[in-house]
Amino acid sequence: MVLAMILAAVALWGAVAASRRVFRLEERVKALEQPRPYPLGEQMGYLQRYIEKLYFAGQAQNWELADFYARELDETVEDIMSAKVVKEGVEVSKLMTTMLPPAEQGLQEAVQARDPELFQTRYGALVDTCNACHQEAKHGFMNITIPDRPSVTNQSFAPERGTGGGL
Ligand code: HEC
Repeated sequence: MVLAMILAAVALWGAVAASRRVFRLEERVKALEQPRPYPLGEQMGYLQRYIEKLYFAGQAQNWELADFYARELDETVEDIMSAKVVKEGVEVSKLMTTMLPPAEQGLQEAVQARDPELFQTRYGALVDTCNACHQEAKHGFMNITIPDRPSVTNQSFAPERGTGGGL
């Protein structure tokens, strides 16, 4: 009798533990199924990096490199536009679609034309557009400027081939 009760208690305990495990697993599956928030801040960081490098490539009249960064910029912009991002009530992807492409295309034209003066004005217009959207998107404190020196020191923006001095 006592043995039967002990066995029943052990079986019950086992069942409770198993159902707890199942519950925990279900919670983890649910968490994994949640859509991940779009990494908008990270993507903005890429925009910042690409336009910085684009600037120095243009300054050095290294148009091939400038074209490379213009394309990288475009890919990131495309990604943000198609991601349907709404953040704190701001329709970021929609805003991006209406605001950025004209300024971006303007700069691409200057790169294709290999025109340093046009590049300078179109670049300024792009930076102004970044900031106009930050105003519009409740991030008016985020101010992009024309860079005065590259933030990386291990890349040359000049058209000449770089060297590590080892070969
Ligand atoms: C569609 C509107 C919009 C446009 C256009 C836009 N931004 Fe942003 N930007 C935002 C929003 C919204 C945030 C805040 C993101 C967050 O909440 O993480 C932001 C944040 C940032 C940040 C902060 C993230 C960080 O890594 O420090 C930087 C830098 C930035 N943007 C750069 C740019 C640059 C450069 C451009 C132009 C090439 C640009 N943005 C164009 C809306 C925009």
